[in-house]
Amino acid sequence: MFFSQLMTKRLLTVFIAIFLTACSEENTVAGSEQNTLQQPNLPVLEVYKRPTCRCCSKWMTHLEDNGFETKAHNKNYLSALKTKKNIQPQYQSCHTAISKDGYVFEGHIPAKYIHQFLQEKPESAIGLAVPAMPVGSPGMEVGSKFRPYDILLLKVDGSAEIYARINTQKEQY
Ligand code: CU
Ligand code: CU
Repeated sequence: MFFSQLMTKRLLTVFIAIFLTACSEENTVAGSEQNTLQQPNLPVLEVYKRPTCRCCSKWMTHLEDNGFETKAHNKNYLSALKTKKNIQPQYQSCHTAISKDGYVFEGHIPAKYIHQFLQEKPESAIGLAVPAMPVGSPGMEVGSKFRPYDILLLKVDGSAEIYARINTQKEQY
């Protein structure tokens, strides 16, 4: 009697386990279906980066979490592209993103400032840049480490001015 009760209990456990597994698989399928249903109106950024650069991929994830679609173009040499797009050496960073209408977004710029720029399309500007790679900027997170930095507005004539000053990690998101 005791033995069969134990068996029943075991079988029940197994059934529950199977049920849960099936359930979570179903959830996964539903989840991935949702991901493939892309929202039609998301702005697309073509991102030129080195194939092995991890911070670039993390930045792309940040963009995708914040209303952009991204397409990666892996290249070993990016300086010709940066020169062609008129991004002066002192404003360069690891990756260069290009919008549909040709604006450039150089480095670890928070997504919301790219949205803002694309809404405003400031006169005689070619895009935005966060030179080098400030610690704590999107894609460059190291715990709570953060170094304040400026987002620069790049002008057609090769000069730049401050577009936004980022003083805390929080105001980036
Ligand atoms: Cu980087
Ligand atoms: Cu990068």
